[in-house]
Amino acid sequence: MSPAGEPDDLELRVVTDKGELLKIMMVAWGSHRMMIDLHVYDVAEIDALGLYEPNGRTAALASWTIRGETAYLCALHSLRPGEGVAIQMLDAVIAAARAAGAKRLKAMLTNDNMPGLVFYQRRGFRLSGLYLDAIDAYRSVVPTIIKTGYKDIPIHDAIELEIAL
Ligand SMILES: CC(C)(COP(=O)(O)OP(=O)(O)OC[C@H]1O[C@@H](n2cnc3c(N)ncnc32)[C@H](O)[C@@H]1OP(=O)(O)O)[C@@H](O)C(=O)NCCC(=O)NCCS
Repeated sequence: MSPAGEPDDLELRVVTDKGELLKIMMVAWGSHRMMIDLHVYDVAEIDALGLYEPNGRTAALASWTIRGETAYLCALHSLRPGEGVAIQMLDAVIAAARAAGAKRLKAMLTNDNMPGLVFYQRRGFRLSGLYLDAIDAYRSVVPTIIKTGYKDIPIHDAIELEIAL
């Protein structure tokens, strides 16, 4: 840990083998496709970044892409919750999106995801959209999408957040 309390031993790398990320997506979400702004992104096909411990273990993974001036954060997973690794991962995505010319970054959360709502709003994201029944509609096409999430809350809706870059 650095004096500021941030994990300082992590290496940022572009993810070339997406196997671990896709596995996490299948367990946490039930698919490796994600819908943001009414557009479906396949995490198997878009860019991914990872933070890795010196022993090779993964600390965090993120998947993102850019369309026009908008970057989309399609997945952000922490394997070391509460230690600041997701903040570090988000900062890396923001830097990559800025470098690619994005003017804003959008993320999507399901209606149950209270920890995610706290996490993104604490980092300056604002709510930018509410798509009622969007996940139910998506599940009718991809039946493996999880039905309940945080504290067993039924998942129906998509909440979008964005931050200016
Ligand atoms: C949401 C999520 C990414 C957060 O990951 P995380 O690793 O717990 O997040 P961090 O540790 O970076 O930050 C969480 C809190 O820990 C605090 N923290 C940072 N360093 C810390 C440390 N060394 N010790 C204790 N707490 C610390 C942060 O300040 C932050 O608190 P705050 O939000 O009140 O400011 C994680 O819960 C997750 O992977 N969820 C499942 C997937 C998901 O829903 N992703 C979002 C949608 S794509």
